[in-house]
Amino acid sequence: MDVESEGSSALRLIKQGAEARIYAADFLGRPTIVKERFKKKFRHNVLDDKLRHKRTMQEVRSMHRCRKAGIATPTVFFIDSNDYKIYMEEVQNSITVRDYINSLKEDKESNLRKLAKIIGTILASMHNIQVIHGDLTTSNMLLKKTNDIEIADLVLIDFGLSSISSLAEDKGVDLYVLERAFLSTHPNTEDAFKVILDTYKTFKGSSEALKKLDEVRLRGRKRTMVG
Ligand SMILES: Nc1ncnc2c1ncn2[C@@H]1O[C@H](COP(=O)(O)OP(=O)(O)O)[C@@H](O)[C@H]1O
Ligand SMILES: [Mg+2]
Repeated sequence: MDVESEGSSALRLIKQGAEARIYAADFLGRPTIVKERFKKKFRHNVLDDKLRHKRTMQEVRSMHRCRKAGIATPTVFFIDSNDYKIYMEEVQNSITVRDYINSLKEDKESNLRKLAKIIGTILASMHNIQVIHGDLTTSNMLLKKTNDIEIADLVLIDFGLSSISSLAEDKGVDLYVLERAFLSTHPNTEDAFKVILDTYKTFKGSSEALKKLDEVRLRGRKRTMVG
């Protein structure tokens, strides 16, 4: 089926990333985001196809797994497997958590704490169902604009590097990726990040994952000292 003529209006490019183009569209009357993993010319053809296929499938699979567990992710409407396009629900009236944090002024501390608790709770539920996000940053979390933010307002996106794993090591690395991204993107937020980890403790396997986080930090530090 030719989706563009069947169900969807023209695609309007809104973002061009290193791996994917993001378009806005209208799919069967619904506001839609289309994420296209385009061909990378410098990659070997077969490898390129494999990677685009794998990441597209991982993204869809993990979004679905999270949704089933009550973690907000965009609904997938359609997958175009010929050119690796995912048609998904557009999270309307949302901004990235990155932009949200950067916009905070009054009550910055208390809003940050509230947000940190939400992030910690969601990461705990995500790791509880063995989903490793693989690219946790504040740009890969959307926040619906409301006056008083709550759990359901935080939507996780960008699962292309995700995997399913029950290993504490993988969960520790996931947290480490977020820690590095969070603290470098948002200076002086160490306290808020501690709140994320404290809230994360609600999940059963959290102590092993946090122990691994400590080990990974140490490895990271050693590497920096040597290099
Ligand atoms: N479902 C969506 N609803 C609204 N905005 C989205 C959605 N998916 C992606 N975006 C926007 O596009 C940006 C890039 O999407 P993302 O999936 O993170 O791709 P990339 O791999 O290029 O980082 C996001 O940071 C967000 O601003
Ligand atoms: Mg992203």
